[in-house]
Amino acid sequence: METLLRYVLLGAAACFVLGLHLMNSPATARRGNLLSACAMATAVVATAILLAQRGSITLAGWGVLFSAGILGSAIGLHLARTVRMTAMPQLVSLFNAVGGGAAALIAITEFLRHLTDPEVSVPGAVDILIGAVTFSGSLVAAGKLQGVVPSRPIVFPAVRAANVLLGLAFAGAAAWLVVDPGSGIALALLVVAALAFGVTMVLPIGGADMPVVISLLNALTGTAVAMAGFVLGELALIIAGALVGASGGILTKLMADAMNRSIVNIIVGGFGTGDSAAPAGPAGDVSVRAVTADDVAVQLAYASKVIVVPGYGLAAAQAQHELARLGQLLEDLKIDVSYAIHPVAGRMPGHMDVLLAEANVPYPRLKELEEVNPEFGQADVALVIGANDVTNPAARRPGNAISGMPILDVDKAKSVVVVKRSMGHGYAGIDNELYTNPKTGMLFTDAKKGLTDLIANIRTLVT
Ligand code: TAP
Repeated sequence: METLLRYVLLGAAACFVLGLHLMNSPATARRGNLLSACAMATAVVATAILLAQRGSITLAGWGVLFSAGILGSAIGLHLARTVRMTAMPQLVSLFNAVGGGAAALIAITEFLRHLTDPEVSVPGAVDILIGAVTFSGSLVAAGKLQGVVPSRPIVFPAVRAANVLLGLAFAGAAAWLVVDPGSGIALALLVVAALAFGVTMVLPIGGADMPVVISLLNALTGTAVAMAGFVLGELALIIAGALVGASGGILTKLMADAMNRSIVNIIVGGFGTGDSAAPAGPAGDVSVRAVTADDVAVQLAYASKVIVVPGYGLAAAQAQHELARLGQLLEDLKIDVSYAIHPVAGRMPGHMDVLLAEANVPYPRLKELEEVNPEFGQADVALVIGANDVTNPAARRPGNAISGMPILDVDKAKSVVVVKRSMGHGYAGIDNELYTNPKTGMLFTDAKKGLTDLIANIRTLVT
């Protein structure tokens, strides 16, 4: 029976890998997610049967396991059903926090139960370290994204010195705990230093660097879970954690590259945040050209090539279905329409892909940054819907919050239309000089209303 259950666990691990592979494309991502979820449920049940066979859990223990499992599943189901798309990053951050926290608690419990095996005390100490850093760091990140903690970089004097001291403290405590696994002081010092490091690591990060940090914390959660697997001797936990750690690590690297940031510099704190209080736009009197939906409808109806640039405002307005309808209308008029997707547009990796897939925008129309940038020069209209930072030419200059971040070359199009409600800033909190470019027309309205008006006006024009 035990051998059979081990094969079931191996099968579940293979399904995790297959699930991740299916998540490579929006067309198969849902199937990948479902497959991974089923594999995880199977792994949990198989592990529970293994534990029951070994008789290593008391009746009270089973009671705790079942009630915690039911309560956790109910909370997870409720959150997944009710969370708004715009609040997904906070939810992911909270999930990272509970994942890291749970992994750390496993190792803490084992140390308190007199863990002495050095083979296990090393991963145990690493588990507590990474898990506790992830727990507190993810809570701060969720707070920043929710607006409970200011989202700007919070840099206090000597933050780097504090980080170095805390780093030395937790490294020393971890080594002490490995040498003397029974030491309560080493355990307490490790937990406190790691929790404090999580806070001081994330507080100075802000602006455009936040997505990289969230992805990094996700990778750390996976690594902590893998370490917990070593502590408990649970193969499934090791494999699942290693997969999350590795895929999260790859995503972190890809996102850091997309932002032209180095992961080390983001973590060390404050790098690349520039002076986010200072406007990045041109100094002196600047004027913007406000346009009406009528004007834009004419521009669009007589264009040959339109590139749509969706951003966070599209998600906030939940205007993806209106955008899909506008795109279809333009295509019916034989206009070449494509959608430029910036890797960090919105508030989570793949945010725009998910949003547009939900509205059934044909996937081949979505173009990534490198592919679409050379095309802006031939576009008659670049239609920017609720995007800001990812189009800001200030990124091409040093000294501001988004310096060095590759942007969509919207300003190369023959004309630009920006649909947003005001001259308000984007996530990075700086002025966007695209808005004062003479070829830019600003349609100041909510994205949903703006797109609905455009559809109505174009229909009137062409009938
Ligand atoms: P942002 O730069 O955040 O700009 C969004 C714009 O949408 C705002 O300027 C806002 O202007 C407008 N807006 C908000 N609600 C709207 C509505 N109902 N209708 C129309 N417009 C609306 O967005 P972006 O260009 O997508 O860039 C994303 C930013 O978020 C980057 O700085 C990125 O680093 C950061 N970030 C990304 C992620 C990931 S992983 N994607 C995670 C965290 C942070 P008004 O208020 O004037 O309307």
